[in-house]
Amino acid sequence: MDNTASTEAPWRVGILFSQTGVTAGIERTQMQGTLLAIEEINAAGGVLGREIEAVAYDPASDSAQFGAFAERLLAEDRVGVIFGCYMSSTRKAVLPVVERRNGLLLYPTLYEGFECSRNVIYTGAAPNQNGEQLADYLTSSYGNRFYFVGSNYIYPFESNRIMRDLVQQRAGKVLGERYVSLDATRKSFAAIIRDIRRKEPDVVFSTVVGSGTAHLYQAYADAGFDPRGMPIASLTTSEAEIAEIGAEAARGHVTAAPYFASLDTPANRRFVAAYQARFGADQTTNASCEAAYFQVHLFARALAVAGSMDTDLLRSAMLGLEYDAPQGRVRVDPDNNHTYLWPKVGRVGEAGRFEVVAQSLIAVKPEPYLVDHSIADWSRRQLQSAAM
Ligand code: ACM
Repeated sequence: MDNTASTEAPWRVGILFSQTGVTAGIERTQMQGTLLAIEEINAAGGVLGREIEAVAYDPASDSAQFGAFAERLLAEDRVGVIFGCYMSSTRKAVLPVVERRNGLLLYPTLYEGFECSRNVIYTGAAPNQNGEQLADYLTSSYGNRFYFVGSNYIYPFESNRIMRDLVQQRAGKVLGERYVSLDATRKSFAAIIRDIRRKEPDVVFSTVVGSGTAHLYQAYADAGFDPRGMPIASLTTSEAEIAEIGAEAARGHVTAAPYFASLDTPANRRFVAAYQARFGADQTTNASCEAAYFQVHLFARALAVAGSMDTDLLRSAMLGLEYDAPQGRVRVDPDNNHTYLWPKVGRVGEAGRFEVVAQSLIAVKPEPYLVDHSIADWSRRQLQSAAM
């Protein structure tokens, strides 16, 4: 795609984040992160004197709609770049569209890895940038007997397969593996809570996403389970889900991510202040929101170099590019289109805020295929910043 014909026209981009449906809670924050970055860039004069203009649709947390809107953006709206997708099932629906039409998807969400498309830039964590760190922390701090509960789609299946390998590296065991539908309610977790009570694992690893997350954590609290002895650990329970769970039921549970809203750095204080000034003091950032934000800034820098929306030129400009994101300096890895990130493990403390209990001392190279990786690699590079 090339829209360099008119020098006056804005640069048009597409946005696909659900404003309705089961994952609207987290995707709205990704939308807001995207809009904030676009507004910042435009307020500073745009890119090469031209503003960025977004065409946004609401795919309603539905894979088929993601695929159809991607097609519309590329074929009818003549947009070449799409910022979007949370659930891996929705990315898998957009993938053949951007590959066939040579568009570019910028994907700001942690995922299961084992994918590397020329037509995607992945700015969320690969499993070696969150899952390994989580497994290491949990097996050192709580024990190695795990119970898996997830939503019924590709990310939880694949994420559990990887977590099982990591637990087995620590001579651990998986005592149960259960899935609930994406529109899970409180009742969906009743039998699972009974099974957890019976099996008494050391850790419950949750790959539940979206609105079902609050039902799981609330059912867990109501069952009287104590997170100090048996936490729920997750890669998908962020500040956005905690807002739905409530701070009390979330307290003591554990999440690994490259970014938490509580990070006390000048770059993050600036980001949180700008986000709250724009969207409201009650709004909280999270890792998927932060990736949605910084990937627009990465794109704008690439566009300034490429001077064109041509996908091949933009991709070349993005690979190797760095940006001082709220989490620290990130870099698009030219080897695999994923991003160097700063892994952390957080435990929910006061007021639903994450306290960092372990963190990487370096930006970790993404390894979407987990080649050459074991839990021990991470252990050698990390700082255990707080004891239990
Ligand atoms: C996910 O589905 N990548 C959270």
